[in-house]
Order: sequence, then structure tokens, then C-alpha cells
Amino acid sequence: MSGVPEEDGQKTFYLETFGCQMNVHDSEKVVGTLLQEGYRQVETVEQADLILYNTCSIRDKAEQRVFHRLADYRKLQAQGKKFGVLGCVAQQEGERIFERAPHVSLVCGSASYRNLPQMLVQIEAGNRSTGLDDRQTDECFETEFTARTNPHRGYITIIEGCDKFCAYCVVPFTRGKERSRTSESVLAEARQMADLGYTEIQLLGQNVNSYRDPTSDATKRRSFAELLVAVAEVPGIKRVRFTTSHPRDFGRDIVEAIAAVPALCDHIHLPVQTGSTRLLDAMQRLYTREEYLERIAWIKAAKREISITTDVIVGFPGETEADFAETLTLLDEVGYDGVFSFKYSPRPNTPALQLDDAIPDEEKARRLEILMVKQKEIQIARYKKYIGTVAEVMVEGYNETRGQWIGRMSSNKTLNFTVEAQPAPGLPGPVLGGYAPVLVTGSFPNSLVGKMVV
Ligand code: SAH
Ligand code: SF4
Ligand code: F3S
Repeated sequence: MSGVPEEDGQKTFYLETFGCQMNVHDSEKVVGTLLQEGYRQVETVEQADLILYNTCSIRDKAEQRVFHRLADYRKLQAQGKKFGVLGCVAQQEGERIFERAPHVSLVCGSASYRNLPQMLVQIEAGNRSTGLDDRQTDECFETEFTARTNPHRGYITIIEGCDKFCAYCVVPFTRGKERSRTSESVLAEARQMADLGYTEIQLLGQNVNSYRDPTSDATKRRSFAELLVAVAEVPGIKRVRFTTSHPRDFGRDIVEAIAAVPALCDHIHLPVQTGSTRLLDAMQRLYTREEYLERIAWIKAAKREISITTDVIVGFPGETEADFAETLTLLDEVGYDGVFSFKYSPRPNTPALQLDDAIPDEEKARRLEILMVKQKEIQIARYKKYIGTVAEVMVEGYNETRGQWIGRMSSNKTLNFTVEAQPAPGLPGPVLGGYAPVLVTGSFPNSLVGKMVV
């Protein structure tokens, strides 16, 4: 245990998390680390000795929101509370955070979390502590003390950082350079999770297709597709997902693995960003529309139907009506099961800041609306096709008001269901974290409904 215990014997912390799955999972590792250092997690700021924010800076004025929040809490400093900023805004703003929010004593980006135990000792001694990345480290944040919040499905980081430098994106500046974990350490974590009763694993990385096994014995290295299969073969693991795939490094071997191994979920998230090759080039995405569609063709040719989702940015500097129209035709051509669409937002340090031809916000909003309406139509048609089929779902929850169980299909769709007949004697009804066969009886743009097959 580090530091001097408070009168009640234990230091307490409050942690709030913003951002992507990588951040959510980092927080699980940070919580585990703090518990190991003798802290106790509490639910409110008032109860906490240490208040931590794990921040995201992907869009909008994220850093300003963090500073506003910190300003709100300044008065709590008189009560002896300490404050720390973690994650992407911490890395991006660095020591400027101490200038604008002098009550903060800890600033730590994700590439330095492995140093948190020593940093906690420093702040407890009344000092400031900074952990910033210089894009030099080759180390990952691995800990055996991950405090996972869901007992049935969990994340495993396989690769951290990003070396792609897409023109609009802060991530290469906030998460350091690309570094992969050995496949053996990933598999050891997967086996440990299976022993604890986990049945679903989601492998995480900003760009999982860049995975390069750093195992020193070259004969024991696994490609990303081989790693997927090896995780799926861990006894007890029923579902394996992965995110995010970058089209540039997306290989056919991944599609072949999914087609051959039922435990690999039939879903690929393959962000396209725009359907215009001219804009893809300006975004430095390193592929053309045609190359992207070639990968989609591999996925569609698979023996097993694989659901495809994507991310799109509208209003990137210089996006013409014609560029935007190409994004709309791409949506039709691919037929996505889901699209996360965003208005372009200028970010610090990124090359796109140098581009002129900014698109006014109202125009970005207009394009976003058109895109969302179009995608909704596509999804209505796609989701309807599931009516009459039976799918296995993982049971994720129960909605009291609607009297419905919440299930997730392998393809990542939400399938809510009821249990109309009593299961036959000896057969269990739905249990959280269990699996159930469900007949789809209705569809919405973003979810399906059905009845458990008993
Ligand atoms: N590594 C992933 C994406 C990470 S960020 C990939 O390469 O696909 C998640 C999504 O946020 C991106 O796919 C992009 O659509 C969006 N995004 C990133 N930077 C953005 C910005 N400056 N403005 C708007 N959207 C952005
Ligand atoms: Fe950002 Fe591009 Fe890296 Fe994805 S691949 S995290 S969009 S720089
Ligand atoms: Fe946000 Fe950082 Fe993730 S900017 S989206 S928390 S990588």
C-alpha cells in the first residue's frame, strides 16, 4: 500500500470515464491498480479523497468541457481532496492543465498508466506528478489487477497507440506510438477470464489490423487472424469480437477466419470516413473507394453472412456536394447494419487544421441529417429481413417497464425478447450472461424484437 492511510484506514477515489472502449477498458485497469494500492472506489465526488477524470478529446471542445468541470470542483480542494486528469485530454494538454486548474496534482496520459503506483505516492506526499508520452515507449499497460465491470463479457487490449496519422485525428498525439502485446500474454488473459466464467471477449486496439506479435521467437508469432482463432479456441469462450479495423491493413485472412470459426462473431466494423477517393486522399486514409469496396466484396463473399458497420465524417474541409454524394452512394452499395456519423471537428495538432475551405456548421448539420435519414431507410430494410429467423443472443439485461429481456446477437444487433411459454421442465429460462435462442418477430431501425424459442 502506498502513502499514509487516512483516519478511517483507507483512501478513497472517484473515477469518471469518457470516450471510446479503449478508455473504458483503461479505466478498468486503472481501478484495479488503485484497489491494489489500497484505495477504495466510491460512487460520489463528495465521498472521495481523489477525484479522477479519464478524458476523451476526439471531437468538439472536449478540453474546454474538462476545464469547466475542474473549475466547478475547485472549491472542494479546501476539503483536502486531490484531482487527477487521465486519458487523451491529459496527454494533449499536458502541464497546461496545472496552469489553468492549479488544484490538479496528477496529469497522466494512457501511455504512462503503468507508472501510476509511483505517481500516487508522489501526489499523496503533496507533490504534482506528470506522466506524458513522447511517442517513444514500447511498453503496454498490462496489469493482473483489471477490475472488469461486467462478469460475462470483457475487453482485452491487444495493441495500443496509432501510427496512421489520419489528417483529422488526435489519437496518434494522445495515445502514443503503436505497440502490440505478445499473443501469449493476450491468450493468458483470455484463459484467466474463461476460468472466471467469461464467455465473450472483445479484443481492442485503435487499429487492430496493425497487430504485430512482438514474441521474440519468430516461429511462435501469430498474425492478427491467427490470434483471433486462438482466442476463440480457449475453452469456455463462446464469442470473440474485435474493434477497430482499419481498411488499409484489413486482410482477407480475417474474413476467412470468421467464416470458418463460429465463435468469431459475424460482425466487422470497418470505418470508411467518406466515399470520395479525393477526400480519402486529403484525409490521408491510405486507401481508395475502390480498395475499400474490394474489402467489402471479400466480406460479402464469405460463406457466413457477416454484418458490416462503419464510421463516417461529414464536412471535412473541402468536401463538395459531389464528394458527399459519393458517400451517400457508398452507403447504398455496402448496405451497412449501422453507421456512426460525425460532423468534422477541428482538433489540436492535426494536419487538417492547416486546410482551408472550412464547411459552415449549418452545412455540416444538413449533410449529417441527410446521411442519417438515408441510413435509417437502409437499416429499416435490412433489419426487416431477420423477421422469421432464429438467432442466439447473449442475455444482457431485463427491461422491467417493457417486460422484455435484452439480448445481443453475434452480429452485434440488439434483439429484445419475451418468454411467452414456460420453458419445458428441466430447461432454464433466460439468465443474465447466458445464451438463448430467439425467434425474431419484429424489427425497428436499430433493434429487433422476438420470442425465446422454448
Ligand atoms: N481508429 C479508428 C477510429 C477511432 S476514432 C479508425 O481508424 O477507424 C472513432 C471515429 O471518430 C473515427 O472513425 C472518425 O469517424 C471519428 N473522428 C475522429 N476524429 C474526428 C474529428 N476530428 N472530427 C469528427 N470525427 C472524428
Ligand atoms: Fe485516428 Fe486514423 Fe489512427 Fe483511427 S487510424 S485512430 S482515425 S489516426
Ligand atoms: Fe477519445 Fe482518446 Fe478514445 S480521444 S475516442 S478516448 S482514443
